[in-house]
Amino acid sequence: MNPVRHDSTTLVIARPDDWHVHLRDGPMLRAVVGFTAKRFARAIVMPNLTPPVLTRADALAYRARIVAALPKDAKFTPLMTCYLTDDADPEEVARGFEEGVFAAVKLYPAHTTTNSAHGVTDLAKVRRVLARMEAIGMPLLLHGEVTDAAVDIFDREAVYIERVLAPMLADFPGLKVVLEHITTAEAADFVVAAGGHRLAATITPHHLTINRNALFHGGLRPHMYCLPVAKRERHRLALRRAAASGHPAFFLGTDTAPHRVGDKEADCGCAGIFNAPAAIELYAQVFEEEGALGKLEAFASFNGPDFYGLPRNRGTSTLVREDWTVPSLVPAESGGAVKPFLAGETLRWRLAS
Ligand code: DOR
Ligand code: ZN
Repeated sequence: MNPVRHDSTTLVIARPDDWHVHLRDGPMLRAVVGFTAKRFARAIVMPNLTPPVLTRADALAYRARIVAALPKDAKFTPLMTCYLTDDADPEEVARGFEEGVFAAVKLYPAHTTTNSAHGVTDLAKVRRVLARMEAIGMPLLLHGEVTDAAVDIFDREAVYIERVLAPMLADFPGLKVVLEHITTAEAADFVVAAGGHRLAATITPHHLTINRNALFHGGLRPHMYCLPVAKRERHRLALRRAAASGHPAFFLGTDTAPHRVGDKEADCGCAGIFNAPAAIELYAQVFEEEGALGKLEAFASFNGPDFYGLPRNRGTSTLVREDWTVPSLVPAESGGAVKPFLAGETLRWRLAS
């Protein structure tokens, strides 16, 4: 593998992957997929469409729509996931993995986030699926938040770890789990303490960049709202340390989640931050600020495939230290638009190739 090469102006790393994206469907898919495909060789594609991706047939059809929407010269492989429901069939899930259609299963606790209404209401209902996944080495990707209205929204991840994740890991000691888009020091510590190869976590560029003050900076900021919601500054700092540590259990997952401007700037604005137009660039900036540019390649290009048991990418990506401005709007369906994370702001690293 190419060793990371960096001087003050150029950074060359093995081509990265994104282990958590929302590519959507239809005109929105066509508007956004090029941003991810330009930056990443592969991406784990979330299944929370309407209706969700439940079967091998759903995933194959969705994968074909993604491939058809790619820019002509794109070199990008979508890795599909299966949306877990209470009545999922263990046989369908396992066959999807064995046939290479599903890379993983996504578990949304019912009513946690966008299009999670069909999610799991009680873990007891999916025990047979989890046991089957454990037996065949199929990863489970978790939206790790409790839905209990009595739990403060800022505590829902930490409470999930205690109430749900810890017992699940004990019940299924061989199950490979990715705790997605972690937002707390508790999550980072828990992943490190699990210590082995069976629990990992993705970290988004926005949770490395903003804390919860950003949601209220000078007024209500709908484009800073996602789930799990950003937490206090001490959590952001803990996430930066975790990502920049190079620990093999932490890897890149942007959770880029586009919504039309009108759906964000609304009485009940959608959760999701669209960071694909500046994702690898922003990670590079964060790692530089942490004095850890040398660890970016492990986080972005090695730890993910190693955990999933997939080959590392052979090509490289080059970032140059050159100011550029994040687009202020990306045109989307029927005259609408999507506003990128940090729209109009200047970033220090630009993707050259
Ligand atoms: O902010 C989020 N947006 N969090 C999620 O879990 C789902 C996502 C979406 O699909 O919009
Ligand atoms: Zn997501």
